[in-house]
Amino acid sequence: MIHDPIEALTNYVRCPSVSADSSYADGLNAAREFAARQLQDLGFEVDIIKTPKHPIIFAERGGDPSWPCVLIYGHYDVQPADPFELWDSPAFEPRVRDSRIFGRGSADNKGPQIVHMTALGRVLTKYPELPLRIKYLIEGEEEIGSPSFKGFLNEHKDRLAADMVLVSDTGSPSPEQIVVTTGLRGLAGFEVKVRGPKSDLHSGVHGGAVMNPLQALMQICSSLHGPDGRVNVPGFYDDVLPVFQWEQDELARMPTTLEEYKDFLGVPEFHSADGYTPFEALRFGPTLEFNGVGGGYQGEGKKTVIPSEAFAKISCRLVPNQKGRDIAELVMKAIRDRCPPSVTVEVSDPEMGDPYLVVPPGHENTPADQSPFFARAFTHAEKAIKGSFGTKPIYLREGGSIPIISDLKEVVGLDSLLIGLFTPEDNLHAPNESFHLGILEKAISAFEEFFVDLASG
Ligand code: BES
Ligand code: MN
Repeated sequence: MIHDPIEALTNYVRCPSVSADSSYADGLNAAREFAARQLQDLGFEVDIIKTPKHPIIFAERGGDPSWPCVLIYGHYDVQPADPFELWDSPAFEPRVRDSRIFGRGSADNKGPQIVHMTALGRVLTKYPELPLRIKYLIEGEEEIGSPSFKGFLNEHKDRLAADMVLVSDTGSPSPEQIVVTTGLRGLAGFEVKVRGPKSDLHSGVHGGAVMNPLQALMQICSSLHGPDGRVNVPGFYDDVLPVFQWEQDELARMPTTLEEYKDFLGVPEFHSADGYTPFEALRFGPTLEFNGVGGGYQGEGKKTVIPSEAFAKISCRLVPNQKGRDIAELVMKAIRDRCPPSVTVEVSDPEMGDPYLVVPPGHENTPADQSPFFARAFTHAEKAIKGSFGTKPIYLREGGSIPIISDLKEVVGLDSLLIGLFTPEDNLHAPNESFHLGILEKAISAFEEFFVDLASG
């Protein structure tokens, strides 16, 4: 069991488990072995299940079949750490300063996993006979879109039977105010390539006779949003679920002001689609973003060239009840339709993940078939968070995505209780990622109480 969570997190973050980059295979193996060892130390039976890329850890604390069962999900992989020169201390040599531990993966998702494991160690030491069955699923491909996960779920769904899923891989506004996440956005992403002349051309010799692929790409891309900031693709908003009054009330409890948020971002003004305030837009609204555009000369000085091709990487964040597949098709069709005949356009196979929504008990839109056990888990979580952090959690949908959460619902029928442990200052996916040590400590106590209560049903 973990006696010193900061030391454990330090050792975990020291394993450079970058799933996107094949040169980090050793780091992935080390992180997986670290996590598996923690679960073995807790007395779990651990199974490492091979996938085409990075194996999944499945672990289990068995017990009487009449005991409730919780499935805990996490990911041992991390985002690439570059640009390395922007880190104040090395990304994979964790350092503690200013009540935070810095290092790639410290918040996303290693810190929150250490919280769960430490709490379980303390609880199971105190109550070795705790009547709670626990299953663990820690994957190594989350940051690359979990390509193996759905296949894994289909193949192993019988082993994954449980009463609910518990996840801490979402955010909260501050170390004092915890959010219980009630929704995740989905994703639909693809790459667009526009091809023009068969080779780069001298823009004086040939300029004027051909369409420049960059110009065509920019025309297509700029047509995808309207002057109202909304996505200009027919049907894009058709399935968007309206926001419920209770969600507006919860949003109003957020401690951050628009002015603070603007300063945090460093932008002169917000830019949100009509019909949404900035805070609404990033939790309740869908988006279409350009994640990368390229083509033509990018080097020093100038070059009078008409490039032969240009590309854009596009992704959409989706909200309930949009479907990844439908939205990808709508946007891809709009792009093809808007391509001028003087060039050709090719769109890659899309990668998709559906959005997720869970409604806590007691609201007008709480599903009638919500399991009483899952409903009580919200009550236990609220009590534990209030006891440890001093304030009642806010129940709010999140802007980020964890596509496997909707897969778990679809394939195994399980709902997830998502307790947000990282904060906006944690710099997820960016240089100087960190995890707040105050949250680490308080969350461990909160989860100790939560696990004990969960066992009581
Ligand atoms: N933990 C994040 C998701 C997240 C981020 C939730 C911020 C709440 C706030 C997760 O690891 C992640 O980064 N997901 C990716 C999607 C994935 C398919 C690459 C994302 O949201 O971009
Ligand atoms: Mn992430």
